[in-house]
Amino acid sequence: MEKNTKIYIAGHRGMVGSAVCRSLEKKGYTNLIGRTSKELDLKNQQAVLDFLQKEKPVAIIDAAARVGGILANNDFPYQFLMENMQIQNNLIDSALKAGIEKFVFLGSSCIYPKFAPQPLKEEYLLTDSLEPTNEWYAIAKITGVKLCQAIRKQFNKDYVSLMPTNLYGHYDNFDLQTSHVLPAMIRKFHEAKENNHADVVLWGSGTPMREFLFVDDMAEAVVYALENELPEYLYNVGSGKDITIRELAETIQNVIGHQGQIIWDTEKPDGTPRKLMDVSKMKSIGWQYSTELNEGIEKTYDWYLENIGSFKEVKM
Ligand SMILES: NC(=O)c1ccc[n+]([C@@H]2O[C@H](COP(=O)([O-])OP(=O)(O)OC[C@H]3O[C@@H](n4cnc5c(N)ncnc54)[C@H](OP(=O)(O)O)[C@@H]3O)[C@@H](O)[C@H]2O)c1
Repeated sequence: MEKNTKIYIAGHRGMVGSAVCRSLEKKGYTNLIGRTSKELDLKNQQAVLDFLQKEKPVAIIDAAARVGGILANNDFPYQFLMENMQIQNNLIDSALKAGIEKFVFLGSSCIYPKFAPQPLKEEYLLTDSLEPTNEWYAIAKITGVKLCQAIRKQFNKDYVSLMPTNLYGHYDNFDLQTSHVLPAMIRKFHEAKENNHADVVLWGSGTPMREFLFVDDMAEAVVYALENELPEYLYNVGSGKDITIRELAETIQNVIGHQGQIIWDTEKPDGTPRKLMDVSKMKSIGWQYSTELNEGIEKTYDWYLENIGSFKEVKM
């Protein structure tokens, strides 16, 4: 791909979209375009079609979505289903109409059935029922995967879907009400350290196992999908390695230099015992992660310290 190829990154200010922009810029790409949701509301079908027909990018990365945790999914099921379908339908359909050859759609590991065997393989898609707490979001994402698959099949275009595991890194959400486990722990340990190394209370037993990927590695995977024609329609992206929540807490505690105790509140729920992606498909075509958890957490904590006080507000 030429370095002056016009690439549109939908959601370029988000955690994943901004990492994709950094990664492309680092590789020398000079013709990146993005629009904020204020400048271009991706829920507006005509506006999206007009934009793509005017700009005619060669490739589109869809990193735009209405995202949120269990609470938000539970409180706003309609928006999670409808807005995500609108955003991706408008982008995918307009891309097809505008003759755009390359499209990378980003989903999430929640597309896989609740009780699918671990590690999660791509072929488990639609083999059983979903986790009810985020089925709204998951169903929207599954329709995006299927639309891209249908376009590959019917129009022979290079539309591909990547399903990331839990991501963390720059521009993460550190709001304790809505954040994921890793950024929430960074904030808790940092604040406890500042507070004379006070004890840190964490939810559950610490035994569930989770997989994490540094968002810059995810961006590298997106760039890989952009620069290569991937032979299949769906790929998992992760490290392929999981750790216990207790190990995660100790790693973060160590990076931050917190010297107090960790107290596990076992009255609180643990959630799914294990969630790990099978990443052998991505590996077999030549891509794998490069940032180990310790290094990724160090980089994320540095970013947290540099940006403390200026985190984006939670939209709801
Ligand atoms: N973060 C994770 O751990 C994780 C894990 C797995 C998968 N993913 C996937 O990665 C993708 C991006 O997630 P993220 O964590 O980067 O989310 P994020 O930080 O919340 O960013 C989402 C972006 O979407 C844009 N957006 C939302 N609604 C829009 C609309 N109506 N019109 C235009 N733009 C709109 C926002 O634009 P503005 O800022 O301009 O409003 C924002 O830049 C999602 O598909 C998500 O499922 C993320």
